[in-house]
Amino acid sequence: MTQDRFSNVKACVFDAYGTLFDVHSAVGRHKPRLGKDADAVSALWRTKQLEYTWLRSLMSRHVDFWQVTGDALDYALDAYDVHDPALRDELMQAYLSLAPYPEVRSVLQRLKQHGMRTAILSNGSPNMLEAAVAGAGIAKLLDAVLSVEDVGIFKPDPRVYQLAVDRLGVAAGEISFQSSNAWDAVAAATFGMRVAWCNRFGQRRERLTAQPDAELKTLDELPPLLGFE
Ligand code: LAC
Repeated sequence: MTQDRFSNVKACVFDAYGTLFDVHSAVGRHKPRLGKDADAVSALWRTKQLEYTWLRSLMSRHVDFWQVTGDALDYALDAYDVHDPALRDELMQAYLSLAPYPEVRSVLQRLKQHGMRTAILSNGSPNMLEAAVAGAGIAKLLDAVLSVEDVGIFKPDPRVYQLAVDRLGVAAGEISFQSSNAWDAVAAATFGMRVAWCNRFGQRRERLTAQPDAELKTLDELPPLLGFE
């Protein structure tokens, strides 16, 4: 049974972007200025951002996620012929206060009520994560906010998932990892974590190295998966 896979869980670790925070809320706040291309710019921004993390890791040319996010935005704006430095700066600032998904706060509260340890494990740089967590008002509901900057390489390098094991002091199999990014969910499962893929976007399953243990529509389904009312 799926739930049995989660019976030894001692800590819940969350991906940040796309899972707790809506990456498209940055462009969402400036939609009129981008006109009909707004959604396409936002989608390309996210696609390039992730591609650049993977490519930089493969080339051993790490820079932090703030730099990658800015480079990806420059690509996306250029691709749609938007040349507006003020808008570029405002979109980057908006990335520091992305909207949390509606259920995030209450789910974290329920997990804490049941004594669960909670953490973020993200590509985000420490200052980006600190700003997003503060903006969402969830700092007190998290025991740790872990950034890949501590290992100097992006997901899905196994050293990133190992960081959670080391910092939380629990075995991989005692961690329930939640991500809306299907490839991130696969990587955590490959590493040995229990994985709940929060498939917010109706993605298809990845054909890669492992499968998540559970598939959720929103994080509201996580407490019951862990046996909490
Ligand atoms: C993160 C990216 C994968 O937060 O969204 O790590």
